[in-house]
Amino acid sequence: MLVAGLAALLLAQGGSAQSQRAGGPAAPASRIEELRQSYRRPAEIPYPAANPFTPEKALLGRILFFDPRLSGSNLLSCASCHNPSFGWGDGQALAHGHGMLQLGRRTPSVLNAAWGASFFWDGRADTLEQQALGPIAAAGEMNQPLDRLPAKLAAIPGYRPLFEAAFPGRGIALDGIAAAIATFERAVVSGRSPFDRWVEGDDAAIPDAAKRGLMVFNDRAHCARCHKGWNFTDDSFHDIGLPGEDRGREGFLEGFEALRHAFKTPGLRDIARRAPYMHDGSLPTLEAVTEHYEHRRLQRPSLSNEMKPFSLTADERADLVAFLQTLTSPPQDFAAPALPR
Ligand code: HEC
Ligand code: HEC
Repeated sequence: MLVAGLAALLLAQGGSAQSQRAGGPAAPASRIEELRQSYRRPAEIPYPAANPFTPEKALLGRILFFDPRLSGSNLLSCASCHNPSFGWGDGQALAHGHGMLQLGRRTPSVLNAAWGASFFWDGRADTLEQQALGPIAAAGEMNQPLDRLPAKLAAIPGYRPLFEAAFPGRGIALDGIAAAIATFERAVVSGRSPFDRWVEGDDAAIPDAAKRGLMVFNDRAHCARCHKGWNFTDDSFHDIGLPGEDRGREGFLEGFEALRHAFKTPGLRDIARRAPYMHDGSLPTLEAVTEHYEHRRLQRPSLSNEMKPFSLTADERADLVAFLQTLTSPPQDFAAPALPR
């Protein structure tokens, strides 16, 4: 009832009215407080016991992430596709790997990967450590035979002290490369956005349209059924009714037909910097995304049960997009590191 009450209140205010009243009546204020609590940023980055944080590992991982010599052609680094300027994606509909070969899926962001429960669009990797060597070896991506990578890096004198500092006495080995890259990735966290400032109590941090959009996101449009919590993901897999042949998680878990066309729910942090959207990059704008959910999703047996039908007014659609915009933080000045020689 509280939910419906606030939605009605906000709707009654229309496009031009102030939403100051939201802080007034007791019931809506408690709903807002509840929402603020549920969206609070975590205080710390979780590092696994098997690969705890050290500054030496994070530094080495950062250098490895930006070093194109991890690829067979010496032309592609992780950052070529996971570029900080594009919200740690590449800004393209589909990724391009070794020899500009087009891959079948869009590059996802590595932002907030420290909180991820599984990796890749179909969740086929369990940890960042497990994930890290995959793209290096993949013929279509960095095309670097793994058995030759440690010797290749050992031939660059500047790498030896970096590995020695990160992994004393262990030389240059694949598990160290993976552990260092994973440690660096965990430190890639989205910056504080206007929405975070609102969560922390600054009512003026986001416009009224975005405040109404937050309620549309949670209530009318059912977005929060899947995009949950401070990072806006349930870390689960859903078919949201996009056309295409990609079987998603079912391709990895053969025989689970309910998972056909199911892909991992992406977090929505820094979303305005990460167009185009979806695993196939098929939706160019946030307006196109909301249009998809409201009108364009395909009806088929595997469509997620969480995909509830809804319809919005033009104002509500604009409010929803205004809310999504507030999840984007100011650009972080992220200079590529100097590479060892
Ligand atoms: C050619 C572009 C390209 C390069 C180079 C590349 N990636 Fe990726 N990355 C992708 C694509 C595409 C996917 C999604 C593939 C899929 O889901 O099937 C992905 C997925 C990921 C994910 C999973 C993210 C998530 O939310 O599930 C991580 C983490 C990642 N890459 C890290 C790396 C690291 C580390 C490197 C360097 C060692 C690297 N990538 C190099 C394109 C690239
Ligand atoms: C049934 C769960 C579910 C619901 C409900 C849902 N989403 Fe999604 N969302 C997903 C999944 C899964 C993807 C990735 C789908 C894909 O690429 O095939 C996604 C992708 C997105 C993306 C693109 C993110 C990116 O990095 O490409 C945006 C933006 C988004 N959703 C916003 C919304 C909004 C706004 C709503 C409400 C109108 C909503 N979602 C409702 C599960 C859901």
